[in-house]
Amino acid sequence: MSESLPSPRALLHLLFNGARAVDVVETALRLGLLEALEPGPVTLGALCERHGLVPGRLYKFLDCLESLGLVRREQPTEVRVEARYSAVPGLRAAAEAVLGAGSLERDRETYAWRELHGHLPEVLRGERSMPTEAFDWPPRTPAQVAGFEASMAAGLGPILETFRAHAPHLLEPGLRLLDVGGGDGTLAAHLLEWRPGLAVDVYNLPACEPLVARTREARGLGGRLGFVAGDFLHEPLPRGYHALCFVRVLHDWPEDTARALLRAAFEALPSGGRVLVCEEFRTPERLAAQFFWSYFLMGVDSCVSRLREVEHYTRTLAALGFRDVRVLPGPFELVTASRP
Ligand SMILES: C[S@@+](CC[C@H](N)C(=O)[O-])C[C@H]1O[C@@H](n2cnc3c(N)ncnc32)[C@H](O)[C@@H]1O
Repeated sequence: MSESLPSPRALLHLLFNGARAVDVVETALRLGLLEALEPGPVTLGALCERHGLVPGRLYKFLDCLESLGLVRREQPTEVRVEARYSAVPGLRAAAEAVLGAGSLERDRETYAWRELHGHLPEVLRGERSMPTEAFDWPPRTPAQVAGFEASMAAGLGPILETFRAHAPHLLEPGLRLLDVGGGDGTLAAHLLEWRPGLAVDVYNLPACEPLVARTREARGLGGRLGFVAGDFLHEPLPRGYHALCFVRVLHDWPEDTARALLRAAFEALPSGGRVLVCEEFRTPERLAAQFFWSYFLMGVDSCVSRLREVEHYTRTLAALGFRDVRVLPGPFELVTASRP
């Protein structure tokens, strides 16, 4: 959005028109208008000529984008076709990410959110919940497990970028890493491909074993990608690793469980061993990206889903006795700490 937030009333007008607003942005993406608008400025006349569009109609279309705060307009003369437009930086990539074919939001649409829609008063009073056949936490049926882990793997992009940037100095050859709650092994597979001397085991509920086996086979990783079946709520974390990572795991649990998991990591690690925590630490932007799950999980009490500020984890790690607590930059920051 532009520099300042819209007023509550303007925001609600835009939200009420959400389906139409998405139609406008999708069309701008599909027609290639964003490519011309983002470097901007480009005149209404030039856009019409280039794309074969009707000036009076495109003007109204661009008003829609301007009301969303996504383009800026200058009108140097009274002549309509001389109006000059620029998109806010990053719009094309954002539109591709949120509205494009592989978008996370499109994947989320396949979840049973309609079970709650229109029933929030009953949901909030605890009288209505997400039916467990539709979604359960942790996922229970093989179809739920496979569907959920596939959604997770699809959203790994920013995490992979962060890990890729820091892997050379964090994951030295010979290191054995345990990816706690490591999904279907997709992150582990990337790490193994980037760092030939590394070995990674995924620790996850037994139902995830076939998914990790499939990843191992599909990526030709053989014995370098292991699987350890377990339930971190009911047993200590396994020993024998130089590093343990929690990627989008701690935010699923209440404060005391998240802390107990970090304490379990402390106990499992050898002296000098490292813990790595990566998830969408709370910022306004990430809370917006998480809107779907904040809504959906209102009906699922077993999943806490709480984005916490990065400082929460740095404080907790220090309080548990970890040393060298650091926050490494990236699309999602990576918190690292060592056991003394
Ligand atoms: C939100 S997903 C994150 C998956 C993966 N780390 C990622 O970021 O794509 C949480 C993971 O925790 C695992 N999990 C949930 N409860 C668990 C438990 N009690 N013990 C072990 N793993 C568990 C789930 O199976 C799932 O793989």
